[in-house]
Amino acid sequence: MSKITGFGTYAPEKIVDNHYFEKLIDTNDEWIVTRTGIKTRRVAAEGELTSDMSVKAVENLVSKSGNDVKDVEFIVVCTTSPDQTMPNTASRIQDKLGIESAGCIDIYAACAGFVYGLQIAHGFINSGVYKKVLVVGAEALSRITDFTDRTSCILFGDGAGAAIVEPSEEEHFLAFNSGTESELGHDLYLTRQNKIINGKEAITNGKIVQNGRTVFKWAVGSIPNKIRELVAQANLTLDDIDFIVPHSANLRILEGISKDLNFPMEKIPESVTDHGNTSSASIPLAIEKEVAKGTIKPGMTVLMIGFGGGLTFAGTIVKWS
Ligand code: UT7
Repeated sequence: MSKITGFGTYAPEKIVDNHYFEKLIDTNDEWIVTRTGIKTRRVAAEGELTSDMSVKAVENLVSKSGNDVKDVEFIVVCTTSPDQTMPNTASRIQDKLGIESAGCIDIYAACAGFVYGLQIAHGFINSGVYKKVLVVGAEALSRITDFTDRTSCILFGDGAGAAIVEPSEEEHFLAFNSGTESELGHDLYLTRQNKIINGKEAITNGKIVQNGRTVFKWAVGSIPNKIRELVAQANLTLDDIDFIVPHSANLRILEGISKDLNFPMEKIPESVTDHGNTSSASIPLAIEKEVAKGTIKPGMTVLMIGFGGGLTFAGTIVKWS
């Protein structure tokens, strides 16, 4: 049995408001707020990498929980914007945190990444393979944003979230699900790009390409049923769920989920207003806001569901600890 024994987040200092984009592309603050709910997003400083933001999120976790991360046995990093493909970002985090020897993997599940990471951690702990797993959802999306594409560049932001999963006397993960509509994979993807780095050609991350309308319809049309499935799997009803935390892609998607489930928006935390769409960091950033306010407390039942490129989704119900 397992539970989350530490939780932390980080958002870069630099705040970019919607007016910034009025100078770059044909858009305006009113369109962005009305269509997405986004007012600001955070952008990583020059030279601030996904691993650097991850380390700051882990430091925040340590300062709040007192959990020592030096004995972490396995690190799962969920990102679509790794420092580089090899070595993976998990290994950079291990190095920067001074962890002696941990298994290190990056997983690429876009905005569903953080919940996939929790599923992997839960599997490792419950099978007895490891006793302490660090899960990080971190993104430097500003580096893979196409700032000439007005339909997508206004959406994304940078940030990180981290959780430690360890054995527990009581099971705190009450249900999991996941799935992928792979025939819609071409509606949200990352191009590849050849770059000359230090005089040598390397294939690096290109830019995000999204067919927003299709992804929007898929999210609003299918995520409420995935939530219902998860709740039934845990032998609960929606009345037993204190908070539903979907990936914060667009406030209108969260409103659609709220309406479909007849579940109040006050119980659907979001991070999109202040941080934009931070992909795998969006769920931790939304939870952090409520934890800081004291609305999410230990013992509460929190449903998280990530969705995005794939098009893939992953959900879990957690008894918050
Ligand atoms: O994180 C992974 C998962 N991703 C998502 O969940 C994202 C899902 N999609 C969305 O959030 C929304 O589809 C967007 C925010 C990307 C777009 O909102 P929309 O309401 O679906 O807009 P639309 O694409 O239907 O475009 C409506 C109009 C179009 O003009 P016409 O064809 O009606 O004349 C666009 O050209 O808005 C126009 N438009 C803009 N106008 C001002 C598109 N982008 C902009 C812009 N500023 N930045």
